[in-house]
Amino acid sequence: MGIFLDSGSLQEVAKYMEMGIIRGVTTNPTILLKDGVTGGLQAIKRRLIEIAEMVHPYPLSVEVTTNDKKEMTKQARDFATWADNIVVKIPVHGPHGELDNLEVVHLLESRHKVHINVTAMMNAQQCFLAAMADASYVSIFGGRVNDMGYNCIGEISKARRLIDAFHLKAKIIIGSSREVLNIVEWFDAGAHIVTVVPKILQKMILHPYTKETVQQFLEDAKKADSLFKK
Ligand code: E4P
Repeated sequence: MGIFLDSGSLQEVAKYMEMGIIRGVTTNPTILLKDGVTGGLQAIKRRLIEIAEMVHPYPLSVEVTTNDKKEMTKQARDFATWADNIVVKIPVHGPHGELDNLEVVHLLESRHKVHINVTAMMNAQQCFLAAMADASYVSIFGGRVNDMGYNCIGEISKARRLIDAFHLKAKIIIGSSREVLNIVEWFDAGAHIVTVVPKILQKMILHPYTKETVQQFLEDAKKADSLFKK
């Protein structure tokens, strides 16, 4: 598994795919809007087909834009025809606690063979139930959990222990990264995947002391070169 990029930007996806450091991409309607995708489902489709091609064979998560049971099922089946590496994101329940969603997940995974990423989860118990419903991926929003004042690490390790103990197929994705230190800590706690926003991924690579060290090597190489030429 490894790091996914949490972005809908073609430039960012291309940049990190070319570096070889990402193993998939996740999006949601908020990310797509932020990355300039306006114009409804047709615009979303165009952008996502392009990203799916760029990351193939790695997965691209695409979220449904409705919480109506029939519509979610229809959209998910439609999204899955856009490319064979598309995974459909379905929230664990609706905005008012509607409970249709896991039924939709189970139907799509078991009958229609659509890979589902159950999303917007905040704890291990939600993850466990989503994994029991046959989801391929289960997403905890680590940063949002931390924003509420408790550490998501305990939830990640509990979710991982349950998934392993019950031999469930789900892979745990931790999203909603806020700080560089989140990434390694969340893997260490048991995440199969951490999905990282571009700004944090860049910060993971850069270090001020590395800059200074490389600068010193370049200057000394120049000096050595000029001595050799004398
Ligand atoms: C990933 O799958 C999520 O959609 C994303 O990481 C949510 O991030 P946010 O909490 O910063 O909106």
